[in-house]
Amino acid sequence: MTVLKATRRDLLKGAAAASLAGALPMPAIGQGAPLKIGLMLPYTGTFAKLGKFIDDGFRLNVEQAGGKLGGRAVEYVQLDDESEPGKATDNMNRLVGRDKVDVVVGTVHSGVVMAMAKIAKDTNTMLVVPNAGANDVTRAMCAPNIWRTSFSNWQPCFPMGKVMYDAGHRNIMTITWRYAAGLEDVEAIKESFVKLGGKITEELYLPFPQVEFQALITQIAQKKPDAVFAFFAGGGAVKFVKDYAAAGLRTSIPLYGPGFLTDGTLPAQGPDAEGIKTTLHYADDLDNPANKAFLAAFKQKTGQEGDVYAVQGFDAAALLNVGLTATKGDFAAKDAMYAAMRAAKIDSPRGPISFSRANNVVQNIYLREAKGGLNRYVSVAHADLADPALGCRASS
Ligand code: BEZ
Repeated sequence: MTVLKATRRDLLKGAAAASLAGALPMPAIGQGAPLKIGLMLPYTGTFAKLGKFIDDGFRLNVEQAGGKLGGRAVEYVQLDDESEPGKATDNMNRLVGRDKVDVVVGTVHSGVVMAMAKIAKDTNTMLVVPNAGANDVTRAMCAPNIWRTSFSNWQPCFPMGKVMYDAGHRNIMTITWRYAAGLEDVEAIKESFVKLGGKITEELYLPFPQVEFQALITQIAQKKPDAVFAFFAGGGAVKFVKDYAAAGLRTSIPLYGPGFLTDGTLPAQGPDAEGIKTTLHYADDLDNPANKAFLAAFKQKTGQEGDVYAVQGFDAAALLNVGLTATKGDFAAKDAMYAAMRAAKIDSPRGPISFSRANNVVQNIYLREAKGGLNRYVSVAHADLADPALGCRASS
């Protein structure tokens, strides 16, 4: 690292002298040049609101730090990934190869993030994941330059098995989109629920991002499980919760899920979401100063109520700020930056967070209940939950 710093200083000295002499422009390295951040998020499609809130949360944190991270000015390159795994490799290559960003912040969709993580790993580009939960990103794919401030798909779902079992349910059905996030969510609840003695009687799937739920909801009504576990998010979650209530099942077959089912969606779901219990690393009414300050600032900036996605974006900037503050804005001092991030203890709106050896966030998982337009805190379903990081061998 000392060698890197000396080399950089020499480069800057040489380039500055040359620039003064009018022979060369200043190279775009060092603390003087803004840090180039690629925001690769869905700005259209069923996850559009999620992407926008992550973006807003990230920018809010940077604005609160005077438009800088670790004293270093930032500039953004925005890219709409459309939650389209088929375009993910080209999109990521564009940011890394053509736009030459220093760090990529993204994305929402588990299938898209897998392609991003592969390129981040191959090119040693720093990637901070502010939502997508694909387990392998911080398991088999883990790397020193790959970080996640949101969750692994396992984290919010594993505690739900005990919640549903303790509520007296023994035979449940699951319903979700057939892609990495849906499949891993079902695996996680199965792991805890079946171990306790519960049974998953049927797993229902439809392709992402389809929202024609009717035939599957009819099957649920006919088979009458004790309860249903569902993962949908964004526009899909709004439609599913409304269709479920319209079929008359809201009060007869209780609906549960990871908190994405009702987070950021309650204004559109209205009374159809009332009483739905979910597990997540955030609740609207968490009674801590960081959450109160965050919600007020987010409202002032955007005119909207903050949600878990905005918090995850906010914390992605907070984590980068920790790293860059430790190196006084020097992005080339990677070892020192990553060491500071690994040791980070952040006072997040979701409560205290830290980072595992796989660079995945360690956090409380809360049981919440949708009541009167808020996802209200009920209890801590699992304190300080770390993903097991199975297969991670190379994160530091
Ligand atoms: C995912 O694809 O990982 C995901 C998308 C939306 C909400 C939660 C997870």
